[in-house]
Amino acid sequence: MTILGIETSCDETAAAVVSTTGDQGRPWHLRSNVVASQTDVHREWGGVVPELASRQHVRDICGVVERALSDAACNWGDIEALAVTQGPGLVGSLLVGVSFAKAAAASLGRPVVAVHHLAGHIESIWLEHGEVPLPAVVLVVSGGHTSLYEVRQRGVYRLIGRTRDDAAGEAYDKVARLLGLGYPGGPVVDRLARTGNDQAVALPRPRFTGPSRSKPHLEGMTEFSFSGLKSATVRLLQKRMADGPLSDAETADVCASFQRVVVETLVDRTFSAAAGIGARSVGIAGGVSANSRLRADAAARGLTEGLPVFVPALSLSTDNAAMIAAAGLRRIERGFSSPLDFNADPALTLD
Ligand code: KG4
Ligand code: ZN
Repeated sequence: MTILGIETSCDETAAAVVSTTGDQGRPWHLRSNVVASQTDVHREWGGVVPELASRQHVRDICGVVERALSDAACNWGDIEALAVTQGPGLVGSLLVGVSFAKAAAASLGRPVVAVHHLAGHIESIWLEHGEVPLPAVVLVVSGGHTSLYEVRQRGVYRLIGRTRDDAAGEAYDKVARLLGLGYPGGPVVDRLARTGNDQAVALPRPRFTGPSRSKPHLEGMTEFSFSGLKSATVRLLQKRMADGPLSDAETADVCASFQRVVVETLVDRTFSAAAGIGARSVGIAGGVSANSRLRADAAARGLTEGLPVFVPALSLSTDNAAMIAAAGLRRIERGFSSPLDFNADPALTLD
């Protein structure tokens, strides 16, 4: 089967073509993956402006889909199903993708499957690596989410923990904004942190003792919180900046120290959860999984604990439609299709 995936939940207009291969070990073949980023539109505002985002999606969607088809050397007649992000996300942005996908499905007489954005991030791991030992614990860490899922069966995701307040990517973006590093902040902080001293600045590490949402035996091991760290970093910077701007070396030290705390927290919680459920592998997906230290530290911890760690390629870490196509194929494999009257749902849940 050949499926066209469409993703417009935030500020990237994306389309991709994925085909099934019939090979159990590598069931999906990525044929094209096109992303039109709106970063330049939103940069001057320091973050995504919903109204500008939806208008830009309307401008870009046709060209992006045409490009995905031509990169995959196929035409509309080759598309046997469509998958589209139904939510969560910005409603005006989601509506562009959902309307486009439903209209294309209706005119082609092909099925359309509604996909949860985080199911897409999770499936990016399977798209990249084929099979992954189960049960797996998957950390989805992005600008909007920091959540841990247990995957015991392909395509079945059970939420076992999440952030109580900010997402990790949100904290990255906020700290970067204060440092005057622009939007999105994660990639710049990641780059600058490489030259900084990660012990230079003392920042608090979030701790929990309360029971986890759905798995009491995982007591406090699977919850995240980044608002305390974010506020502490902001306070420290505001105090320091009252005496004048930071030198490049100081900026690098703040980035490295902040990143150390975020990454240690993410890695510790993920591996505690993996031990708690007896996982045979660990996956890390979402925009922040592009982070170089997170990748390196998780791989090192995996080696120490004898657990394989799977992350998607960088092009599949941040928002893209290939992961949506993959999640759509997974839903179809499980016998699911969506009626044509489904709607965008900005608060869609997965579990
Ligand atoms: O998954 P994504 O593209 O969009 C959402 O679903 O939110 O994630 C975007 C987030 C942003 O907060 C961005 O700063 C962060 O991922 N990000 C990174 C890196 N690359 C992107 N954070 C840390 N290090 C990176 N290299
Ligand atoms: Zn995302």
